[in-house]
Amino acid sequence: MTREINTILVLGVGGAMGNGIAHVAASVGYNVHGFDLAQNFVDKGISSIKSNLERGLKRGSITEDEISEIMGRIKGFTDLKEATENVDFVIEAVFENIEIKIDLYQKLNDMLPNDVIIASNTSTISISLLGGGSNRGDRFIGMHFFNPPPVMKLVEIITGLQTSQEVLEITLGVAHKMGKETIVAKDSPGFIVNRVLVPMLNEAVFLLQEGIGSAEDIDKGVQLGLNHPMGPLRLLDLVGLDTALNVSDSFYTQFQDSKYRVPQLLRQMVAAKMLGRKSGQGFYKY
Ligand code: CAA
Repeated sequence: MTREINTILVLGVGGAMGNGIAHVAASVGYNVHGFDLAQNFVDKGISSIKSNLERGLKRGSITEDEISEIMGRIKGFTDLKEATENVDFVIEAVFENIEIKIDLYQKLNDMLPNDVIIASNTSTISISLLGGGSNRGDRFIGMHFFNPPPVMKLVEIITGLQTSQEVLEITLGVAHKMGKETIVAKDSPGFIVNRVLVPMLNEAVFLLQEGIGSAEDIDKGVQLGLNHPMGPLRLLDLVGLDTALNVSDSFYTQFQDSKYRVPQLLRQMVAAKMLGRKSGQGFYKY
């Protein structure tokens, strides 16, 4: 594969991960096509990128001209065919649902040249499974960013059973150009980072559910006792409780091991639409 990567298509630009990935890609000079299903999702994603870039204005880490330049590299699309034109690399960050993702890859297959790689930002779904569904398993890979993508330094790269060595190297190159550190994991539920994170977050919810400590004290304990930048319950509010429940359920289903059982409180809060920052109420009020 000799394709030079100039333009990246980000699928799901309206979501927190999608707009963060588009932000990072455009900031390092890639042209970005941001796709989402409806114009209001696209507009929301693009305006979040602008407001996140503007955080740096006050501190002088970025200028108005630099923001205009970065924003000028981002185009929004709701038509998938138009969004794929002149695209050299695809990063998919849509809802964590196997059927939705595979349906999208099938549509893309007819639109993309053969040598374009599809990288999925999935945090839970098997890369071999998604690669198989994409009909381009050798050119399919996991590229797992962390929330918020403009701040978090890591990208976890996951190879599926069919991912070629060349595709791994090209994807590592894209992540490094984005200024990220990388780790490489084999396809397995939760890969590396979430395998450590998910049981820890669930344990914090069990502590609260059992009345062992207040939310504030559980967070303060981890933040100051372990030097984490934020406590686990506040982090759950940032990630979104629905996303966290989805990940936890998928761990339990895939490993069939009781150590991954999901705390009832997490399930109840999602049912009550207490989803964290995005709904205004999670373990804390926003
Ligand atoms: N976009 C762009 N920049 C952002 C941002 C965003 N969404 N959020 C924060 N920032 C920037 C701020 O502008 C600020 O920049 P400067 O250093 O240049 O001033 C910097 O990040 C720090 O932000 P704040 O001062 O507002 O707040 P903070 O110091 O408390 O940091 C935080 C906020 C970066 C979120 C920090 O608390 C943190 O790192 N928390 C842990 C996050 C984490 O663990 N993420 C992983 C989640 S798990 C996951 O994503 C995987 C999965 O599959 C579920």
